Order: sequence, then structure tokens, then C-alpha cells
Amino acid sequence: MSLAAKLLRTKPIVEAGTDSGLKRVLGALDLTLLGIGAIIGAGIFVLSGITAATQAGPAVVLSFVVAGFACACAALSYAEMASSIGGSGSAYGYGYAALGEFPAWIIGWMLLCEYMVAIPAVSAGWSGYAADGLRAIGLGLPDALTHTPLDPKLPGLINLPAFIIVLVLGGLLAVGAKVSAQFNAIMVVVKVLAIFTFIVAAIPHVTPANWTPFIPPEVIGTDGRPHFGINGIFTGAATIFFAYLGFDAVSTAAEETRNPQRDLPIGILGSLFACTALYIVVSVLLTGLVPYTELNVPSPVAHALLQIGAKTTAGLISIGAVAGLTTVMLVMYFGLTRVLFAIARDGLLPPFFAYVHPKTGTPLGSILVSGLVMLVFSGFVPLGRLAEIANIGTLGAFVVVCAGVIVLRRARPDLPRPFKTPFSPVIPALGVLSCSYLMYLLGPHTWIAFGGWMAIGLVTYFLYGYRNSRLGKGVFTPTIV
Ligand code: ALA
Repeated sequence: MSLAAKLLRTKPIVEAGTDSGLKRVLGALDLTLLGIGAIIGAGIFVLSGITAATQAGPAVVLSFVVAGFACACAALSYAEMASSIGGSGSAYGYGYAALGEFPAWIIGWMLLCEYMVAIPAVSAGWSGYAADGLRAIGLGLPDALTHTPLDPKLPGLINLPAFIIVLVLGGLLAVGAKVSAQFNAIMVVVKVLAIFTFIVAAIPHVTPANWTPFIPPEVIGTDGRPHFGINGIFTGAATIFFAYLGFDAVSTAAEETRNPQRDLPIGILGSLFACTALYIVVSVLLTGLVPYTELNVPSPVAHALLQIGAKTTAGLISIGAVAGLTTVMLVMYFGLTRVLFAIARDGLLPPFFAYVHPKTGTPLGSILVSGLVMLVFSGFVPLGRLAEIANIGTLGAFVVVCAGVIVLRRARPDLPRPFKTPFSPVIPALGVLSCSYLMYLLGPHTWIAFGGWMAIGLVTYFLYGYRNSRLGKGVFTPTIV
């Protein structure tokens, strides 16, 4: 077999019912809540204000629309792939069946970038909110315990709250998918209530003058990128894309879903639709409450409420934000371990990552190792431009998933497709174009970090995965629908 043929070897797909060891306990509602759990978080509670203040002005709502459009194209493609190919590896598994082993590895590595970077990034935001909350009830932590040793502004010993939350979530995931889903459902209700509280409190206090100028005049920032103006709407979209990250994590629950062909498309599209609607309403109200220039703060939503004198509501929103950030980390952590599990099951990573505890039915090996890495990130590494790095990894994976729909329709027209992306190949092609364009708009630092991450991925593949691939050895692990 030539090298190219080996790199492009594809995996057979089998029908549902094969036992993967993971327990099938989740339904459509669980999945939709899982999606909302992963989606609404730092993007709306933190980045919305920062993006309005520094990149798009009140037109940040259009940034949400642009990013939402790219996500909708990707989500429709995901839904088709998830319903016809499935498997806990999500886009990685679809790539393996549609495009070949090496493209699949590249997608998998990009997904690991998404989750491994987004979780510690969100944990830093969580720590900020939690530390504020503790201070408010007279239990303030010393700076040494809320700042990492490498923090350029204020070096400390460890970011203890961030460290602890990652540890607790790892424990929860180890106990079982159903317990995690139930905990998630409660927290999702809290955060959605917080958002509705904001909407109700904000409507009477909107000052329409704050929406003028709706699109502030363009300036070139110190990073060389355009801020404000029409271009600012698009660079803002590349940043605010972070707010949508997470709906893809729903697809990693395929092997724990009772009726994946029906429930996965509902979970993916339902959660994305609900969150897009909420984001549009919240961003319009936020920029209507106070001038956009005042929103460059860590907690813009609570800040805007404080400005209009709604102190109690601001406190409630902060509680909702803590709940929101917790579920984002939980669901992304869930997705991360399932992708690792799937890659290791195919022999492309060491078998320890594929170890499922016989009693809990959870992938304990992946939970432990990824948890340890993220504990180091969360507790000891300061997190700056991480949101954009998570975005670029995700966008890369979305581009390949959308392309995969087009390729697979031609290569495997016979495959059952319980959910079909409408207007194919137009929608998947628009997904490829819009996600590639958002990637292009991300800054040079992001591209350098991404390049470094992908280089490590290439070395890992050729040193380990290429030689140990189960498919390569003729012992294939079918992709389970
Ligand atoms: N979409 C997630 C958030 O906004 C990552 O926190």
C-alpha cells in the first residue's frame, strides 16, 4: 500500500446496536439541554461586551448574525453526518469514514484544540466570577490563590478556583453520563432564567440613542486588524464565534443516545437555534442600555445592569453566569473525553485513553489524562487570547465537516441519511466558505499558536498513530451509528 493510500484509508460504517461499552441513556431533550449547556457561557456573559466595545460597536448584533450563519451551515452538515455516521468521535469519526485516516486525525486534533483550550479559558472566567462572589460574602481569597505563577500583571501561586472546578467536573463525569446530564439540566435552567431576567429588566431602560452610531467609523487597531466599520463586524464575528462553540459537543454523545438518528439532529439544531435567538436579543439590549464604549469589562451584562441601578438583578445575573460557565466546561469536558476515547479506540492514541470503567460505563482513562493536562493549564497558566485559539481549531474542524458532506454524498450515495442537509451542496459549500473566511480574519498570534498545535499533532501521528492504527493492522473498529 502506498503512503497516500495508507493516509487516506477509510473506516467502514456499521448500523446502531453494536456495544461500545458506553451506556445509551440520553434522549432528545437531554441532548438539547447538553447543547445549550455547552453554548451559552463566556461568549455572551463576557465577550459580547468586549467585542462591542473594541471591534463592532452596537453592530455586534450583526457579528452574532454572521457567526451564527457560519455555525448554522456547519450545524446542518453536522446533523447529517451525526445521523448517518455517528459515533462518539464526532467530526473525527465522520472524517475517518468519509475522507480517510489522516484527514480524520487532523480534524480530531483540531477538536482537541477546541476543547482543551476553551475549557481552561472558561475556567479562568469562572474563577473571576466565583472569587467576586466569595468576596461579596466576606470570604475573599488572597491574590496568591487566584492568580497563576505566570500571570504577567500579578503573579500568584495557583488559580485555585479554576483548578478546583476542573477537578470537580472531572469527578462528575467519571460518575456517569446520566448524572452529568441531570446536573447540567439544573444549571441550564438557572442560566437561561438569568438571561430572561436580564431581558425583562433591560427592556424598560433602553436608550435608543446608544445605538447611534450603529456602525462606528473604521479604525486600524494596534494588532493591524480593522476595528469597527463593516470590517469590524466581520472581525467581531471571528471573535464572537466563541459564543457558539459547543453545539458540536452534542454529537459526541452519539453512543450514549438511545435513538441517535432522530435525537442528534434535534439536539444540535435545537440548541443552536435557541441560543442564536437569545444572543441577538441580549446583544441588542446590552448595547441599548449603556454606550458601547463602556462595555470593555469582564462582566459586561452585570455591569450594564449596575449602571442603570439594578443591583439585585446584577447579582442574580452573576449567579446565572457562574452556572452558565460551569455547564460550558462540563459539556466540553464531556466532548473532549469522548473524542479522545474514539481516537484511542482506533489505535491512533495509546489504549489507556480508551479505557471504560466497567461499572460507571465512562471513559475513565480519557477523563483522567485530559483532566490532568487541563488542571495544569487552569491552575498555573494565565489565559489571554485563548478564545481565538479555540475558535480557529473549531472553525478548521467545521470546514472539513462541511466538505465531508459534499464528498460523502458523491462517494457513498447509498448511505442511509435519516437527516439530510437541505440545499446540498449549497449549504455545506457556504459553510466551508464562511468558516474559512472567519479563520482568515483571526490574528497572526492565533495562527502561530494554531500552527504550533498542528505541528505537534503531525509529529504525534507519524510517531504513534500511523504505526498503531487498528485499521492499518487490519483490526478495524467500526464507526458506530
Ligand atoms: N460557547 C461557549 C461560551 O460562550 C464556549 O462560553
